[in-house]
Amino acid sequence: MLLRRSMPILLIAAASFVLAACGSEGNSVSGQSAAIESGSQLFAARCSGCHTLSVVGAEGSAAQVSSAEKTNGPNFNTRKECYENVVYAIQNGGFSGAIMPANIVVGKETEQIAAFLSKYAGSEAMSGTGSTAKCAPKSANAGG
Ligand code: HEC
Repeated sequence: MLLRRSMPILLIAAASFVLAACGSEGNSVSGQSAAIESGSQLFAARCSGCHTLSVVGAEGSAAQVSSAEKTNGPNFNTRKECYENVVYAIQNGGFSGAIMPANIVVGKETEQIAAFLSKYAGSEAMSGTGSTAKCAPKSANAGG
């Protein structure tokens, strides 16, 4: 538990270089609620360094396993996420707590990103299109 919590803090400094280096172009989210549009901008600004999601022009995930870097996170074009799990990942640093920094955003910004991501993540998944992901909440002790 202690180790799991202290790791992300060490990585925040490293992550901020990644975030500074990766801009994002072409946010095509529009006509949505203010919270979701603001969530899309926050995602592009704070999460696109490590995650891919084409609706906001984010390309941070690895294109191929062979070119993967340790910090590459899941590709949200193909992975659905539910609201609760996005909140969990933001507060805990992903599901493993090993790479993604915890609390990149807090409070209202967490809610806005969760609202945005639970609506847009998984829009290129094989099954269904853009529907709200059904939630199977992750827990901290799910295999570490
Ligand atoms: C430094 C790179 C990095 C940044 C920045 C980052 N993530 Fe992650 N994220 C990861 C990695 C790596 C994983 C997969 C490993 C894990 O779950 O611990 C992950 C996992 C996740 C998951 C769980 C996905 C799944 O289904 O397994 C969610 C949700 C998530 N991130 C959302 C976000 C959001 C939202 C932001 C911006 C606030 C963000 N991430 C910023 C690297 C990052």
